[in-house]
Amino acid sequence: MTEKRSLWGSKIGFLLAAIGSAVGLGNIWRFSYMAYENGGGAFLIPYLIALLCAGIPLMILEYALGHREKASPPLAFARIHPLWEPLGWWMPVVAFFGINLFYAAVIGWCINYFCLSLHLGWGADTQGFFFKEFLQLSDNPFVLGGIRWPILGATALAWSACWAICYREVSRGIEKASMIFMPLLVLLTLILIGWSVQLDGAWDAIKEFYLKADLSRITLTTAAGRKVWVAAFGQIFFTLSLGFGIMITYASYLPKKSDITGNALVTCILNCLYSIVAGFAVFGTIGFMAKAKGVPFEEAIASGPGLAFVVYPEAINQLPGFNQLFGALFFLVLIVAGISSMISLTEAFSCSICDKFAISRKKATTLICSIGLVGSIVFCTRAGLLILDIVDHFINNYALILGGIVECILVGWLFKSQVMRRHVNESGGLRLLPLWDLCVRFITPAVLLIVLGVALLADFSDAYEGYSVNALLFIGGGILFLTWLGSFILSHIPWKPEKMKTQHKPEEENLLT
Ligand code: ALA
Repeated sequence: MTEKRSLWGSKIGFLLAAIGSAVGLGNIWRFSYMAYENGGGAFLIPYLIALLCAGIPLMILEYALGHREKASPPLAFARIHPLWEPLGWWMPVVAFFGINLFYAAVIGWCINYFCLSLHLGWGADTQGFFFKEFLQLSDNPFVLGGIRWPILGATALAWSACWAICYREVSRGIEKASMIFMPLLVLLTLILIGWSVQLDGAWDAIKEFYLKADLSRITLTTAAGRKVWVAAFGQIFFTLSLGFGIMITYASYLPKKSDITGNALVTCILNCLYSIVAGFAVFGTIGFMAKAKGVPFEEAIASGPGLAFVVYPEAINQLPGFNQLFGALFFLVLIVAGISSMISLTEAFSCSICDKFAISRKKATTLICSIGLVGSIVFCTRAGLLILDIVDHFINNYALILGGIVECILVGWLFKSQVMRRHVNESGGLRLLPLWDLCVRFITPAVLLIVLGVALLADFSDAYEGYSVNALLFIGGGILFLTWLGSFILSHIPWKPEKMKTQHKPEEENLLT
């Protein structure tokens, strides 16, 4: 007997869930420090190029693959060719162990900061507070230095919320949550942006550092310029939830008649628009803070993953009124955006486990969220931020990009992109043009290979952020190796025979040979 696959209750429910997965901490927390570190307005140029030549083609590919096979990534890959199953596992395994574990801890920081904002508990020196008092940051990623209990407590809260949503049937859990979270997020973000851009000094900073592009920052002839391009591609993968197996999973719950191309375009455009618009709030707020402190914009703040947790509290301190309200609003935006992405990072892995082991969603969710909470503990130690920074760098620059290349080879060459395009067009909605074949067969994999090569070269010539080679190899290389090993082992457990029955229609089978 084959069990019935879950379905979304409505088209808008799917779209909101997919946008909810894409729009997350990556759009505010990660985008803000990436853009600030990588040339402000200049960063937007490689970012938009990455969106066009990798983001959109891969979003269509992932939606199409999930929709056609009605399967999680490992099952979809295994049906195309069993040898590729480990790579199908690697995506959700990387999303879960490589990203979700630290993602939950960052939501834990946001929950703490939400509470702190109610009485401005971070004091006058927000930088000192974040690093010395809140994180009690260790100076070496190998010296864990004990657990920060307030962070672990809030991280457990995030995992509980994620469990409560993913535990229910897709249409009653993830879909319902997204229907509430997404409109709330848009409303809160608009209030936040409206508020931020009218602060004293905000517009000057936005015009000077966000809307003007200093092209010398992105020139390919310098190592620094090339790094900006790698960062932009990594950011596109992270922000669009590509290479995680999420979009394959979400599309597998779509009904037969679905607008794959239209939905993919809407997800990509709305997500990137959200980041770019949220950038106004970030750059405006940094500008306000720089002016209030009388320091140059470029030196206003120490950058990196701590940016949002230093710059916002500082700006909130400087506000003439409503400080607590502004603070609570900002951290609430981060929490809502974070949870709606965290559930998708969990769902991709739990759907793969359900497909392989034929266990119920309830059991899989409970098991996976418990493992997740235990795994997040390392990011709640005093070395948490340092480990997060290294893991994030390696996962984004290597695992996700490699995942994108593999998908292009698999669908573009092994499966044949024209078969997939025909499936998309037969499903209805916006027509997919042959240009897409050109992208997934040639342009996207070629560009991603170059980005991968540049990232490798940069890491070999210059240790990332000055971390010791041992730390980079052990933590960064370790996470890549362990996620790969886990995927390899999982792929060697046999499928129930009925699972391998492909969804292909007979006339399409002929084209596969
Ligand atoms: N796409 C999610 C984010 O941007 C993971 O946070």
